[in-house]
Amino acid sequence: MPPRISNEAERDLVETARRVLPAGTFGNVPHEVVIARGEGGRVWDVSGNQYVDYLLGSGPMLIGHAHPEVTAAVQEQLGKGTTFFANNEHGIRLAAAIVDAVPCAEKVRFVSSGSEADLYAMRLARAYKKRDKILKFEGGYHGMSDYGLMSLAPRRSSNFPRPIPDSAGIPKSLQDEVLVAPFNDLDTVASLVREHRQELAAIIVEPLQRLIPPKPGFLEGLRKLTTENGLLLIFDEVVTGFRFAYGGAQEYYGVVPDICTLGKVIGGGFPLAAIAGRADVMAHFDKGAVAEDDYLMQVGTLSGNPIAAVAGLKSLKILKRPGAYERIFHNGRTLMAGYRDILADAGVHARVTGDAPMFDIVFTEREVTDYRSMMGDQDAMKRCNGLLRERGILKGESKYYVSLAHTDEDVRFTLDAFASAIGELARMRAA
Ligand SMILES: Cc1ncc(COP(=O)(O)O)c(C=O)c1O
Repeated sequence: MPPRISNEAERDLVETARRVLPAGTFGNVPHEVVIARGEGGRVWDVSGNQYVDYLLGSGPMLIGHAHPEVTAAVQEQLGKGTTFFANNEHGIRLAAAIVDAVPCAEKVRFVSSGSEADLYAMRLARAYKKRDKILKFEGGYHGMSDYGLMSLAPRRSSNFPRPIPDSAGIPKSLQDEVLVAPFNDLDTVASLVREHRQELAAIIVEPLQRLIPPKPGFLEGLRKLTTENGLLLIFDEVVTGFRFAYGGAQEYYGVVPDICTLGKVIGGGFPLAAIAGRADVMAHFDKGAVAEDDYLMQVGTLSGNPIAAVAGLKSLKILKRPGAYERIFHNGRTLMAGYRDILADAGVHARVTGDAPMFDIVFTEREVTDYRSMMGDQDAMKRCNGLLRERGILKGESKYYVSLAHTDEDVRFTLDAFASAIGELARMRAA
């Protein structure tokens, strides 16, 4: 397999990026590929190399890049103005589409990123319950706020429920406000809830945490525990919303939270996210509906931006068409099954984990049930991703996002590339 070409224009851009950006990146993916364009399930870098794209912009491009219907809708709105701060038709219609689709959503508040949505969802729970503590799961991703960064990706293990902040600059006092439990461990959650029920406002959880599926009964158990002990249940559906089903993971797993957060898909590739939930809880965003001290101030310059909203609305319309989710799940299941066969044939010990709309391999022999069992051999992972990139597959460090736009040919190409990469990796390990 020839190495990927890197032309002068791309090398120049990489050099400029190194000069003007910390670590030479936007803070997201580390590799030195500068993307020039995307179409459907593929992207091209500035040097002209083509990739089957499983990064998908970190998830928003579920229906594929530059979908002609989304592009046309955005272009039409571009000529009419790009942001107003005031209510606009597309934003209102998108909120209505979310209320129609998502089981817990009686009211919707728009923000610009998933991080913001999670920050406000946790604040909303604290305002509603008038308690300060939040329980989250080790390795659970809830954005970049001070609360969200507690034990998101700890490099060392601490004793539950004490969190470890994953960033410099987080006030030490906040470690007392977040309790951390292992994902899929209902007994630990139950004992923490019993012990802290007077201080806890909510449990926040990714219904499928990163790539770790919930064990049967886990989400149902969280729902029961929160209801019985008077806490709110928040589903972070920034990733799973409109991806696992049109009604998100809450429809897919049949467990309805009090609040959920949405992002990625609902913005159609533009900055838009949302907090959605029960009307009595969401009332805290309404000055006229609650006592003065209970009001939760929330204002954002770009909230409900009409370009993002029309792109999101069009994306949802495309996802609602017959066969859309069947196609996404078909692609994902074919890839996951193919990967398992390839790993078994090569005698490489790795697990394929996740679910059809998003999955990856973990170089481990253990069952993957929580953050600690998900760690695996990180060096092997990095090497494998690099080998795949050389073979025309673009993905994040630890996730394949599957697209409606991926074709059978893309899937076949990916399986061939993976077989070749795993063969090479096995040879490197044997050497
Ligand atoms: C589950 C989850 N929640 C929240 C976020 C934060 O979203 P954003 O990057 O839009 O701030 C992410 C981002 O990947 C996520 O995966």
